[in-house]
Amino acid sequence: MKRLCTLAIAAAMFFAGTAVAQKVDVKKAFKHADQQTLVMLKEIEKIKATNGKPELVSPRTLDNGNLRLVASRDWTSGFFPGELWLLYEYTGKKTWMDQARAFTGLIEKEQLNGTTHDMGFKIFCSVGTGYRLTNDPHYREVIIQSAKKLSTRFNPKTGVIRSWDHSTDKWVNPVIIDNMMNLELLFEATKLTGDSSFYKIAVSHANTTIKNHFRPDYSSYHVIDYDPNTGAVMKKNTHQGYSYESAWARGQAWALYGYAMCYRYTKDPAYLKQAEGVAGFVLNHPNMPEDLVPYWDFNAPGIPDEPRDASAAAVIVSGLYELSGYSADKALYLQKADKMLNSLSTKYISPVGQNKGFILLQSTGSKPSNSEVNVPLSYADYYYLEALLRYKALKR
Ligand code: GLY
Repeated sequence: MKRLCTLAIAAAMFFAGTAVAQKVDVKKAFKHADQQTLVMLKEIEKIKATNGKPELVSPRTLDNGNLRLVASRDWTSGFFPGELWLLYEYTGKKTWMDQARAFTGLIEKEQLNGTTHDMGFKIFCSVGTGYRLTNDPHYREVIIQSAKKLSTRFNPKTGVIRSWDHSTDKWVNPVIIDNMMNLELLFEATKLTGDSSFYKIAVSHANTTIKNHFRPDYSSYHVIDYDPNTGAVMKKNTHQGYSYESAWARGQAWALYGYAMCYRYTKDPAYLKQAEGVAGFVLNHPNMPEDLVPYWDFNAPGIPDEPRDASAAAVIVSGLYELSGYSADKALYLQKADKMLNSLSTKYISPVGQNKGFILLQSTGSKPSNSEVNVPLSYADYYYLEALLRYKALKR
């Protein structure tokens, strides 16, 4: 009888439009992450013992079932060190801190690499997380140096940080939506130093991106090419999406997360509006699947027979938890985020001991290049763990 009543109440709430919040088993998810990461560490050791390539330091994906390690210059090199820090944050275990320090140390030299915009991904997810958890003054210096280096890519004429130096046959001064994620490093550097130049660059980049990267429905282009002398927009293209006018799923994820983060530092209502607009686009899209783990592009032509992108879901869910703290639509964002996180934790999770220790399955790196399709990716795992910690911090 009691069970019938509970079901009736749940059904009534559902039909009244008040969806029932889904619980996420964070303890179970971190136990799984702990087990998988131990597997990963063993796999990394095995490769290092045999491949004679000491420059390969961080796991990125599986390539035909084989673990692919990348050098520190790769844009993904900071995610695994970051995961180790997040495991330390949740468990408090010194062994995770020791591993996090060791893997972070292997990529710190990127603080001097000014050839890419990916400084935030590399340094902030690893060193930045390490600093947040330890206050180590060495990490503080690395963050500041990295922000200085990243700032050298800012052009006052365009008002943006240049993303890529490659693909000069296609673009002169390409800026990708992903670049929003690198602004966190700049905002933090201003907090650490009191030097407002980093903050101003971040704000200029975020404002210019609102102006040029978005369509009226709040979906975003992937690549905008700027004239470096006049700041005029020359091209609106894609690189990893289905077409120039399509909505590449991870690009929408970077935008949502990026503007929620910018609002955290600036309290500028324009950034809140932007993040809410992107959230509305993503959550209401007719091609968003029932389990809320998007296909790799919202306009992929073969939907529903297209690969998913769990990495996009992981970034979106983490961004939604942050956004829920600022928005009047809090209840809706929490309900959607919980559902998404539940889907990832139950349907997209690797069986223990498999997939060389990656945590999530079914991410898509670049479908147009047929690269990393339907595979684990280190950034999916990083943002998934971050989302779990954000879920836990909400204390509902
Ligand atoms: N930043 C590259 C990507 O999202 O694939």
